[in-house]
Amino acid sequence: MLSVAGLTKRFGGFTAVKDVSFSVEEGEILGLIGPNGSGKSTTFNCVAGLLTPSAGSIRLEGREIGGERADRVCHRGIGRTFQIPRPFRNLTLIENVALSAYFGQDGKVGRTECWRQAEEALHLVGLPFALQFSTEGLGAAALKKLELARALATQPRLLLADESLNGLDQAEMANAADMLRRIRTEKGLTIVWVEHIMGVLMRVADRVVVLDHGEVIFSGRPAEAQADRRVIEVYLGAEEA
Ligand SMILES: Nc1ncnc2c1ncn2[C@@H]1O[C@H](COP(=O)(O)OP(=O)(O)OP(=O)(O)O)[C@@H](O)[C@H]1O
Ligand SMILES: [Mg+2]
Repeated sequence: MLSVAGLTKRFGGFTAVKDVSFSVEEGEILGLIGPNGSGKSTTFNCVAGLLTPSAGSIRLEGREIGGERADRVCHRGIGRTFQIPRPFRNLTLIENVALSAYFGQDGKVGRTECWRQAEEALHLVGLPFALQFSTEGLGAAALKKLELARALATQPRLLLADESLNGLDQAEMANAADMLRRIRTEKGLTIVWVEHIMGVLMRVADRVVVLDHGEVIFSGRPAEAQADRRVIEVYLGAEEA
């Protein structure tokens, strides 16, 4: 479904992502992991059109999308969450999500259907969809759910979730993991999930790609990753430090 080849992103003289290649099969959950600053969000933002790659190719179902604008990438069927949620605070929960449904589908879907899709997305993530609920007082876990609902409302075929669940406690992390798996099944989605905590992701990912200093150091099954010497050194070593 998605194929990234030789992706490189430089910020001035600093190379944040270096010759990264991986692919995502339809229906799978791919975990993109690595320590803080290893280039996960940058890779993500290149795929989602927020950043223009310095080099390399990004193909969605065979079609080059590298360098395309974020809204166009979204209209092509890639939904994404942001690591730092920034909802419209002056709008209610369901208004936030309905806006995503509307603009995420290029304004081609009518008002009633947008509200229905917003309701469905909020229901999927387990947030209240009654009209009066505001974003006020939402905790870290609920804000992440809202972020996910906004991405789902754009009706993606491929979901990029920049989760980084480090703001959540163990139970909330496990819930988030179960939720993604359920959403994959219910909506028939393909998911790329970014995370720097290994444990949770290992339970839900079909495959993992491990980044370190902007480079792929491992690609394969979660169980193999956990036994890989380089991953243990670089990744688990960094986590313990
Ligand atoms: N716009 C930017 N300009 C300059 N440097 C940047 C920019 N965005 C990211 N970087 C740098 O690129 C590197 C990779 O950052 P990135 O945000 O992709 O890491 P990450 O793997 O998502 O980390 P985290 O787990 O903390 O979210 C970091 O060293 C970061 O400081
Ligand atoms: Mg990040």
